[in-house]
Amino acid sequence: MKLIFVRMSKSNLFLKQYLENKKEVGAIAPSSKFLRNRMMSPINFHRSSVIIELGAGNGIFTKEILKRMRSESKLFVFEINTVFYDKLCNEINDPRVTIYNESADQLHNKMQEHNIDQVDAIVSSLPYAVIPIRTKYNILNSCLSTLSPDGVYVQFQYSLNAHKLLKKKFSKVTLDFTPINMPPAFIYRCKP
Ligand SMILES: C[S@@+](CC[C@H](N)C(=O)[O-])C[C@H]1O[C@@H](n2cnc3c(N)ncnc32)[C@H](O)[C@@H]1O
Repeated sequence: MKLIFVRMSKSNLFLKQYLENKKEVGAIAPSSKFLRNRMMSPINFHRSSVIIELGAGNGIFTKEILKRMRSESKLFVFEINTVFYDKLCNEINDPRVTIYNESADQLHNKMQEHNIDQVDAIVSSLPYAVIPIRTKYNILNSCLSTLSPDGVYVQFQYSLNAHKLLKKKFSKVTLDFTPINMPPAFIYRCKP
């Protein structure tokens, strides 16, 4: 009963944020653990020193990345929504993570501030279906200038709309799908 209540309140927070910021949040509920696991599977956690997360929401992927990554690795998170950002800062207390209340297009600038030239993996939940085209290009250019040549960019979407854009930007794009999510989701694994 307690578990059901916790799940309901997590979804309620998400739904409230969606209703208040539809163009930003892009989903009515947090991702399922099935989607979370599919998003993690392309990442080689043993070989990743720096991992980026874009659009963390209530932190379902953030907490899993921290569970899987090495003790000396670093995670940088970008979340534009202030309510989600505050929640992440309150719930996650781990010296390996830095959380920014900034747009994902600041990724390259922020990594330069940390003297980081290349990152090993980017996990993105950004809702490209509702993000303006110019911002989408700025974000993807920022990702490509920061991603290591043998790194991986993993993105989920609820449709195939982003396929053309991702194929234009990355040299290799592989598609995966999980029906066990609300709504069902496509997972794009992209290589620079
Ligand atoms: C579909 S939700 C996914 C949340 C969570 N990762 C999950 O899978 O349940 C997308 C998230 O991206 C955030 N977001 C949207 N545009 C952004 C941007 N330009 N930079 C950073 N975060 C952004 C939203 O606030 C929202 O939390």
